[in-house]
Amino acid sequence: MIFAAILAGGIGSRMGGTDTPKQFLPLGDRPVIIHTIEKFVINSKIDKIIVLTPKNYINHTNHLIEEYIGDNEGIVVIEGGKTRNDTLMNSINYIGENFTINDESIIITHDSVRPFVTHRIIEDNIEASRKYGACDTVVPATDTIVESVDGNTISNIPVRSNYYQGQTPQSFNINKLHSLMCSLTEDETNILTDACKIFTLKGEDVYLVEGEVTNIKITYPYDLKLANTILEDQHD
Ligand code: CTP
Repeated sequence: MIFAAILAGGIGSRMGGTDTPKQFLPLGDRPVIIHTIEKFVINSKIDKIIVLTPKNYINHTNHLIEEYIGDNEGIVVIEGGKTRNDTLMNSINYIGENFTINDESIIITHDSVRPFVTHRIIEDNIEASRKYGACDTVVPATDTIVESVDGNTISNIPVRSNYYQGQTPQSFNINKLHSLMCSLTEDETNILTDACKIFTLKGEDVYLVEGEVTNIKITYPYDLKLANTILEDQHD
């Protein structure tokens, strides 16, 4: 089975100026989260979409889905967790409790605030995670990366062509992800905020899927303005 987890458990503190988490803010004619969910709804290979939100937004999200997408048995809304990784773990636990998992089962995990993920990126994630067990969506770094250990002076300028910026989706073989997550010590759990990092720390390969510069994450108010421009551009 192929699952998608839309991670929407955050509160968007860096967005400022509003109490509403950024995934529920309007982008064009509908909320950001609806744009994102729609990208997964149109992929017929995906068996179940799990949307994870703060507890007090579960009903609201169900209403939005009903309003903009309609009755859809393929989507379920459940509670996210305290951290992004906890939210991811909730999706894995939900799958374990409600479905029979085998070695072919994969999960595509995606930030709810990346509404411009493309069909091609999702397809490439499905293929790569099936074939290799784990993949990350990235774009080559465009700025020179400067490392500073003390925050005052440069300690290193690595070769830019070796560096990429991580986007989402990140997709995994579920059995593999679950066993790696369960093997973490408490210290490792606190440090490992990224599921791909868990794989690399445990010596497992994570393959690169080519992202898109338009697959932006809405983090700050400027990003929402940029998102509106991208949307208008796509509609031209
Ligand atoms: N996320 C999540 N559960 C959390 C924290 C984050 O599912 N406990 C999700 C967010 O909803 C978002 C994605 O992870 O879709 C990317 O995280 P980020 O941009 O950091 O979102 P927030 O944590 O909401 O933002 P901020 O750090 O500004 O508070």
